[in-house]
Amino acid sequence: MSRADQQEDLRLVAYADRYRSSVLDLFRSVPYKAAIWHWEFESSPTGKSFDPILIVNSDDRVVGFNGIIPVSATSQGKPLDLAWSCDFYVAKDYRGQGVGSWLKKELDSRASVILAFGVSDQADRVLSHLGWTQPTVVHSFRLTRQWRSVRGLALRGLQWFNCVMGWLNPSVYRGTLSVQERLPGPEEVDALWHLAEADYEAVITRDYRYLDWRYQRHPCARYGFVVARRNGQLDGLMVVRYGQRSLKLIDYCGPAHNTALKRALIRFCRSHWRHAEHFSVTTSDPELGQCAVREGFFQARSKPRFFMRRVSGKQEGGKQRGQRGQRGQRGEGGEGVEYPENPHWFIMTGDSDGEMLQAAAEFSLGY
Ligand SMILES: CC(C)(COP(=O)(O)OP(=O)(O)OC[C@H]1O[C@@H](n2cnc3c(N)ncnc32)[C@H](O)[C@@H]1OP(=O)(O)O)[C@@H](O)C(=O)NCCC(=O)NCCS
Repeated sequence: MSRADQQEDLRLVAYADRYRSSVLDLFRSVPYKAAIWHWEFESSPTGKSFDPILIVNSDDRVVGFNGIIPVSATSQGKPLDLAWSCDFYVAKDYRGQGVGSWLKKELDSRASVILAFGVSDQADRVLSHLGWTQPTVVHSFRLTRQWRSVRGLALRGLQWFNCVMGWLNPSVYRGTLSVQERLPGPEEVDALWHLAEADYEAVITRDYRYLDWRYQRHPCARYGFVVARRNGQLDGLMVVRYGQRSLKLIDYCGPAHNTALKRALIRFCRSHWRHAEHFSVTTSDPELGQCAVREGFFQARSKPRFFMRRVSGKQEGGKQRGQRGQRGQRGEGGEGVEYPENPHWFIMTGDSDGEMLQAAAEFSLGY
């Protein structure tokens, strides 16, 4: 029982349609939440049902919410019992009373491993306090073609230095690259992913079903796909989004290790989007980061926060003793899977729910 629960009659409730407007009311300062709601939560590519955590007060008003993004994940090709936390939010008048801790405690019953990416300053303090850890560091890399400020000029100097280092360490990719408005077909994408996934220590499943949902079915965002082929076969792909004269390299699907391919994808983006003034890629993959630097990017100071919680006393891939066994959110596909001690998570911008909202915001402005 939380402190807030003791003060007022607050209770945990199962999600029902009648709570939707009350939840959206919580997020009234977050534009486009309503526009992406159905797609984000109720059209799961994994087939999982929408089962967020809700706390309501005595008037049945939602005062605390924690969403779960419907994704699957694997470790070296084996399914993980995972919940991807998003939209952790407590009504202003209920903050600092333990409602946030209660939501997170309840989240513990949903999976063996819980992740959150793109965590706010406030949530950073709360999650650290509650024992969440930051096992994998995520870096941002940027490239600017803007030279109108002193800082812009200095950064261009650094970019030139990185380019020269890249020329001194050349890599040759013997395939062809092109940009497409649609993903390649399901068979090709799945073949690529299933060949690659065993080499990732821990990763969100980037099969066709997921990529299609995430990037082609977003109701108010448009993504592009840079596709690499060798001997006619799909070798790798990069998901990108252009807006506000910036090109963002949002996601990557392909082999875990292949410097020549990753550099070729980044180089292609640079030359194809000649009119872009800024480029950015955010990733936990040191190889992709190094490839970006070799292609002239610089490492930015900001590090988006990626948090993880491993629930102790939870049976891997199975149900936590005595808790919420009937809801069927846990254990799906995770039977008997051991979570490795300290896996390196492959994370990119596309793994953040913040990107879903930002894409919608920029799209609505016509970028
Ligand atoms: C982040 C948020 C959900 C936290 O909810 P909350 O109900 O205020 O959190 P709690 O009262 O349960 O606090 C959780 C714990 O963190 C601690 N904590 C809270 N704020 C803290 C702070 N600023 N510094 C250090 N510790 C803090 C509390 O002391 C508490 O620990 P305790 O139970 O041992 O006392 C809430 O502040 C919020 O909705 N913020 C705006 C939206 C947001 O940033 N969401 C996160 C998106 S990633």
